[in-house]
Amino acid sequence: SKPQVLVARAVFPEAVARLSEHFEVETNDSDELWPKAELIRRLQGKVGVFTTGSERIDAELLDACPQLRICANMAVGFNNFDVDAMTARGVLGTNAPDVLTETTADFGFALLMATARRITESELFLRAGQWTKWSFDMFAGAEVHGSTLGILGMGRIGQGIARRGAHGFGMKVVYHNRSRLSPELEADCKARYVAKDELLRTADHLVLVLPYTPANHHSIGADELAQMKPTATLVNIARGGIVDDAALAQALKERRIAAAGLDVFEGEPRVHPDLLSVPNVVLTPHIASATIATRRAMADLAVDNLIAFLTTGQPRTPVNPQVLGRMRGQ
Ligand code: GLV
Ligand code: GLV
Repeated sequence: SKPQVLVARAVFPEAVARLSEHFEVETNDSDELWPKAELIRRLQGKVGVFTTGSERIDAELLDACPQLRICANMAVGFNNFDVDAMTARGVLGTNAPDVLTETTADFGFALLMATARRITESELFLRAGQWTKWSFDMFAGAEVHGSTLGILGMGRIGQGIARRGAHGFGMKVVYHNRSRLSPELEADCKARYVAKDELLRTADHLVLVLPYTPANHHSIGADELAQMKPTATLVNIARGGIVDDAALAQALKERRIAAAGLDVFEGEPRVHPDLLSVPNVVLTPHIASATIATRRAMADLAVDNLIAFLTTGQPRTPVNPQVLGRMRGQ
């Protein structure tokens, strides 16, 4: 009989059909995450699982599912994986990088522009029937072209945003990252490496695109917000938890920065109530990679990883390739 695989949340039927050519597949057909005990129960006898990025894969789950050998995320981020616990047990994790880079950079730029130019705030005003007259400074926002674009986290998505800003909008680009880009990539993005303090002080628009790790928890909190320009905008398309949402709401309320655009939140899908009550924020429900073409490509890559690993041992995008030499259960 075929090896068994679990699909932990509803996804494109074509993705399930491809998996079914190779595996006996059980699926969650709903958009609800299974509670941990349910996920563990469903994983019994499964060698692989298709995850969407929210299912927590930790030591407790791995110990309760000794047959599991691969967790394939349909997301570039993999902070739902306890990678050390997986590696220690010889369980492979894969993510879905590259296929979402340009789409996500498009969205980051859209959120930057909507935030700087106060699109949401002005639309709510119009819809509420409050547009009865013109005034000279009505919804006057911040300049985008020619301004200074700051990027914290200069991976592929950060570079995509830098290119859009530098080449499309004539922005001066500064960035901070754990490591510096090569001179060739810096030239391509027209981006200048700066210390984090300088990034915070000089950016007119600061976009966060760094992965979530415990070390990045609250990378932007009250102290960092205090260093930013009072006219600055902050955009988070990275992960909830990178920003201290309570501190941000307070800064927005007191106009210590001008505005924020947020696609990710601490504890999402819940949103800090203070963020819901300040006007100078654009809020979207974690949709930066959401085009049909890109979501299909992400699902296809997760499926490719499951098929390739379980049939040939050669996944396309492993996050802990060190386990490949010493696979679980062999
Ligand atoms: C989405 O947030 C992803 O990590 O792909
Ligand atoms: C992160 O992996 C990115 O693609 O920016």
